[in-house]
Amino acid sequence: MSAAATLTVEEIQATLDGVFADVVVTGAVGRGRRCVAFAARNGNRDIVVKLYHPRAIARHTRQIGGSLAKFEYERNLVFHHYPGFATFSAAPIGFLSSPRAELFLQERVFGEPLMPFLRAHSAECRSRVIADLQSILERAEQAGMFDLDLHPTNIIVKRSRGGAARPVLFDFNKVPYSVRRSNGMFDWCRSIVFGSRSNDHRHLRRFNRVGRTFPRSSASIPVVE
Ligand SMILES: Nc1ncnc2c1ncn2[C@@H]1O[C@H](COP(=O)(O)OP(=O)(O)OP(=O)(O)O)[C@@H](O)[C@H]1O
Ligand SMILES: [Mg+2]
Repeated sequence: MSAAATLTVEEIQATLDGVFADVVVTGAVGRGRRCVAFAARNGNRDIVVKLYHPRAIARHTRQIGGSLAKFEYERNLVFHHYPGFATFSAAPIGFLSSPRAELFLQERVFGEPLMPFLRAHSAECRSRVIADLQSILERAEQAGMFDLDLHPTNIIVKRSRGGAARPVLFDFNKVPYSVRRSNGMFDWCRSIVFGSRSNDHRHLRRFNRVGRTFPRSSASIPVVE
């Protein structure tokens, strides 16, 4: 891992100071293949600051060009502002692109990762969350937004005070897909091999299978807002 991927909390704070004056970074909360997510406060709001790995930045430069943090911010924005999707996605807050770091600021989502949630809850509860995901996927595709990256580690299930559970997405693939042209032949071959139109549909089928593999339980999770 190169230097930029291992910036300390203090270094991230120093990079943000002056641009996002109200942001106070605390510590790492999650890691993906492309970034480390840090917990932070923005005034009275909980947010995450995503620090992208140099290899992710290099790949983005090669494939698309421009700032990776800006790209992440903008595709989150497209999804979040699509009618009806705001409650199903983390709000994008801003980005900072400098030679030292690519940083993307986003609302922090509190809840339970999708797979543990599905394994711990009743069939009725599971099917409501999966129905929400199905509906999000269908509406997004109708709107020309493909490749949502419905990987289970990109979905947190959040409880409202009323107790209802809803999936919240916070990491998106190429939305809208038109940011980069789809490769027709590659997509066709992939659909033959995997028997599905996209990875998102495959993930949905996998979520639907969870109930058959794991025993039903009525465990509850704490209410968070
Ligand atoms: N908005 C958020 N609220 C709460 N936790 C988050 C949020 N964004 C990211 N995380 C945590 O950080 C982890 C990595 O974030 P994210 O999925 O955005 O990174 P990534 O490197 O783009 O992922 P991938 O490996 O899918 O490319 C997540 O799995 C999650 O645990
Ligand atoms: Mg992810």
